[in-house]
Amino acid sequence: MAMKGTVHYEKRGDVALLTIDNPPVNPLSSGVRQGLFDGVSQALADASVKAIVMTGAGRAFIAGADISEFGGSASQGPGLHEVLTMMENSTKPIVAAINGTAFGGGLEVALCCDYRVAAPAAPVGLPEVKLGLLPGAGGTQRLPRLIGAEQALQFILTGDPIPAPKAKALGIVDEVVDGDIVDGAIAFARKVVADGGKVRKIRNESARVAADRQNPELFANARKDAARRMRGRFAPEMIIQCVEAAVNLNDFDAGMAVEQECFRRCLSHPQREALIHLFFSEREVAKIPDVPRDTPVKRLQSAGVIGCGTMGGGITMSFANVGIPVTVLEMTQEALDRGLGVIRRNYEIQVQRGRMTAAQLDQRMKLITGTIKYEDLGQADVVIEAVYENLNVKVEVFRKLETICKQGAIIASNTSGLDIDAMANATSRPGDVIGLHFFSPANVMRLLEVVRGSKTSKETIATAMQLGKTLNKIAVLSGNAPGFIGNRMLAGYSRQAGEIILQGATPYQVDNVINQFGMPMGPFQMNDLVGLDLGWRARQLAGVKPEDVPMTARVADKLCELGRFGQKTSRGYYIYPEGSRAGQPDPEVVQIVEDTSAALGITRRPIEDSEVLKRCLYPLINEGARILEAGIAIRPCDIDIVYINGYGFPEVTGGPMFWADKQGLDNILNDILKFRSEYGDFWTPAPLLERLVKEGKTFASLQG
Ligand SMILES: NC(=O)c1ccc[n+]([C@@H]2O[C@H](COP(=O)([O-])OP(=O)(O)OC[C@H]3O[C@@H](n4cnc5c(N)ncnc54)[C@H](O)[C@@H]3O)[C@@H](O)[C@H]2O)c1
Repeated sequence: MAMKGTVHYEKRGDVALLTIDNPPVNPLSSGVRQGLFDGVSQALADASVKAIVMTGAGRAFIAGADISEFGGSASQGPGLHEVLTMMENSTKPIVAAINGTAFGGGLEVALCCDYRVAAPAAPVGLPEVKLGLLPGAGGTQRLPRLIGAEQALQFILTGDPIPAPKAKALGIVDEVVDGDIVDGAIAFARKVVADGGKVRKIRNESARVAADRQNPELFANARKDAARRMRGRFAPEMIIQCVEAAVNLNDFDAGMAVEQECFRRCLSHPQREALIHLFFSEREVAKIPDVPRDTPVKRLQSAGVIGCGTMGGGITMSFANVGIPVTVLEMTQEALDRGLGVIRRNYEIQVQRGRMTAAQLDQRMKLITGTIKYEDLGQADVVIEAVYENLNVKVEVFRKLETICKQGAIIASNTSGLDIDAMANATSRPGDVIGLHFFSPANVMRLLEVVRGSKTSKETIATAMQLGKTLNKIAVLSGNAPGFIGNRMLAGYSRQAGEIILQGATPYQVDNVINQFGMPMGPFQMNDLVGLDLGWRARQLAGVKPEDVPMTARVADKLCELGRFGQKTSRGYYIYPEGSRAGQPDPEVVQIVEDTSAALGITRRPIEDSEVLKRCLYPLINEGARILEAGIAIRPCDIDIVYINGYGFPEVTGGPMFWADKQGLDNILNDILKFRSEYGDFWTPAPLLERLVKEGKTFASLQG
């Protein structure tokens, strides 16, 4: 098999120029490693070469390791460590000309060079932590020696890239070069040669780590921060141990051995596989089999939003945040003023927290225009309604939009689960109608469910998926079925939570089990946040008789009768002390739950945590299987992405469908059948689940 990628060798006077060429982003594939090894050897053997410059062809320097070589078949060519050792032993100075992206192994290559110069727009980063890994080519050892442990930890633990000027300020690069980066790097190299040709091996530097040795609390702080931001993650602790080794061992090779061991532990940890699954899934969900990549996409340069409530306000901010002018419509001036006020306050909080400047606040507010006149939406390229969740109200809004939206405008609904076709058919242009289901808070949450109606055109779908990207969201396509993907799955989860507490658990036990699993909020914490009164009021409006209220809604309705609507009234399932979002359990609620069980004639019994977990999570899997079979979600990974980005499912599990495969679908099916015999037909297994088990297959086998 031919090796992948190559490195061009060229002489520019007394400088050897190595250009890494492995389109599109120059990952460190076999041919690149071989080429670097050969190129440096050749330059060292040529007495007329005084210095070496290394750069990338195209727009990247080196985007990182070749992920396709991970965990799989043995790769060809020299290992990266062999190449790096050889570079580090070079007696001639090597200058990295960082022309573009230098991520992961790419930055580690640059750290083995003696000097680094970068183009102003080149981002550098060590994103390994996001894949459950750590920089395993010396990054955890060299970076602390270069910039100190505190900054190195921050940089490696967030995994976020930084622009070259910031990298210069931190000391990661020596110079930012305007103009041609290769010319700049060659000039830099010649200057080094003129000054005596000094090499600078980071491995030999000890001043920074010696200073850090006096400051052991920096590791305690890093651990505290990691526990807060990346709860339950394995890689961060491994990274901290590596940097500790860099600081405390004072022996580069001993530190490298620790890094190797920690890297190996990350590599074999199940979280790594799950996180890499998510990495690929995020790219996969953009692919829609019947909407080819070259489908024309409309340019969306202005937007309209209808309703400036919780969702409308957040959607409006999402547009303003990416510089798209947006007009937001409300029913009355009063409601409009209130909605715009909330938007401004949200931005002000960001300014207070230092996430935004006052000037940026002004810029964003200038992009937002409020109105109470529909005509003002006539020129918008896309209009999204976010009015009350009531089909009649929405159909009415669509009828109006039909008369005022310009031809070709995308007309969208943010409904949480109502029929997109019913809205589309209220217009004469159903091809332009689509669901754009944002999640609360819409300016923060990454997920966007894009819902295709039966007549939605391919151009509209492609444009909506592109809009997701423009708004920095991750768009997943769903079919038009009640609840779409996410909320449809959620229904069974919520119902089980409601049943379990009537049978013997407390809401606190259920939430605790779900929190332990890694979701930031359990079902009852979530209900308190959303507001228990929503369902209660809806039932009252619909005139549901007390005896017809679903069993699982009775506790919530009783709480509402006591004025306990959740966080907004400081009481719901939990009590919220003044200004706190962390609820405390309340014996009164336990009493209400027990009384409700008694009134329904249910004998309470202890329910084990393991049963609680299965009964909450398996409905997600079972319904997920139905959603797949019905073609509502294209692939299992689409469901994983929805549930992780919209519902707080822990990333380290890889999502519900990936997680289910790891549990063993046969085990899950056995439990589901057992639950059916105990609790009834809710637990009828999805035909797809039964079929996969019978054939000994996994959900992953459906990925194609
Ligand atoms: N709240 C959530 O978590 C969430 C999440 C996803 C989707 N949604 C969906 O978003 C939509 C809005 O929900 P919300 O939570 O923002 O509700 P909300 O009550 O906070 O806001 C609705 C706003 O729409 C305005 N409005 C109502 N009818 C209107 C009309 N005919 N013309 C103009 N404005 C009108 C109201 O004055 C109100 O300000 C619903 O369809 C809901 O299902 C909500």
